[in-house]
Amino acid sequence: MIVLGIESTCDETAAAVVERHEDGRGRILSNVVLSQVNEHAAFGGVVPEIAARAHVEALDHIIASAMGEAKMSFDKLDGIAAASGPGLIGGVIVGLTTAKAIALVNEKPLISVNHLEAHALTARLTDNTPFPFCLFLASGGHTQVVAVRGVGEYERIGTTLDDAIGEAFDKTAKLLGLGYPGGPQVEKEALRGNTERFALPRPMFGRNDADFSFSGLKTALRLEAEKIAPLTDQDVADLCASFQQAVVEVVLDRLRAGLRLFRARFGAPTALVAAGGVAANQAIRKTLHRLAFEVGTVLVVPPVELCTDNGAMIAWAGAERLARGFVDPLDVAPRARWPLNEVTGLKTAGQYRTMPRR
Ligand code: KG4
Ligand code: ZN
Repeated sequence: MIVLGIESTCDETAAAVVERHEDGRGRILSNVVLSQVNEHAAFGGVVPEIAARAHVEALDHIIASAMGEAKMSFDKLDGIAAASGPGLIGGVIVGLTTAKAIALVNEKPLISVNHLEAHALTARLTDNTPFPFCLFLASGGHTQVVAVRGVGEYERIGTTLDDAIGEAFDKTAKLLGLGYPGGPQVEKEALRGNTERFALPRPMFGRNDADFSFSGLKTALRLEAEKIAPLTDQDVADLCASFQQAVVEVVLDRLRAGLRLFRARFGAPTALVAAGGVAANQAIRKTLHRLAFEVGTVLVVPPVELCTDNGAMIAWAGAERLARGFVDPLDVAPRARWPLNEVTGLKTAGQYRTMPRR
């Protein structure tokens, strides 16, 4: 089964062709990602209107490259998948409409994929991870602990009450005058900083639920920085190190609670899976390893290029859905908001497999 996947929910324009074998194993035939980082850098964050316009300009070429690299033609595809949300609605519309057009013209099934579901299922593409597993999704827009019990069977165990974890890194970087995106810069600065110089809070620590909160940490960091301004290079490094240490300890505590809740409701997970751009952070990875070992499970972290937004994860989620007969009608709507627990594994409108033509 071969599926083309399109991703355009945030600031990456991406397309990929992925193959799913009958035994459930996956293979990436191509995976092309164009980052818009430079377009947004001056603003210190993603500007929705700029993102949508950049997707319009780039998407056709990105799809052509993905198809070319995979040596694939549209008629050989088994389905077209697009991330229909959640995300910045302008970009989502660009990707989904393009997918609909390709599906209609080539008489192929359309698969509407939830972007979070795609992050969730990536571990099955890379590691063939069996259900049920515990997902820690940590990106610029999301911070979630999810029980992944099957395709279309997701239960959120914990989430952030305010900022996403990657957003907290980005805001810290912005405050300290580091570049965008902030995560990698903060991590780099933290390497030469003192983790104990600033006493920052550990929000939500010790609670029985698995929820997160980062806005208090961000404010505390700002107050500490203001107290000692103007900042030297060493101050910046120490602030980054103290911030990252607080985040690491919070992640450990919150995921420990999350895994406890998982086990109580669904039994032992087959793995702890990390996804999202923040999973690239080495200090966080080390902590996740430690935690997986502690609870007697394994840690699965897909390679960085599959942890951050990409088309392969959309194509793969599309293939996983298509293999179960889950396809979508051509009038499926793009969604800015689309919680993972609203994603179902229902067989929707199988008759749309063959498009009516005039
Ligand atoms: O998954 P992603 O590429 O895009 C979405 O947000 O969906 O994640 C991007 C986020 C940004 O907030 C970025 O600062 C963060 O991931 N990030 C990191 C690191 N690399 C990327 N955060 C901490 N440490 C890193 N090394
Ligand atoms: Zn993402």
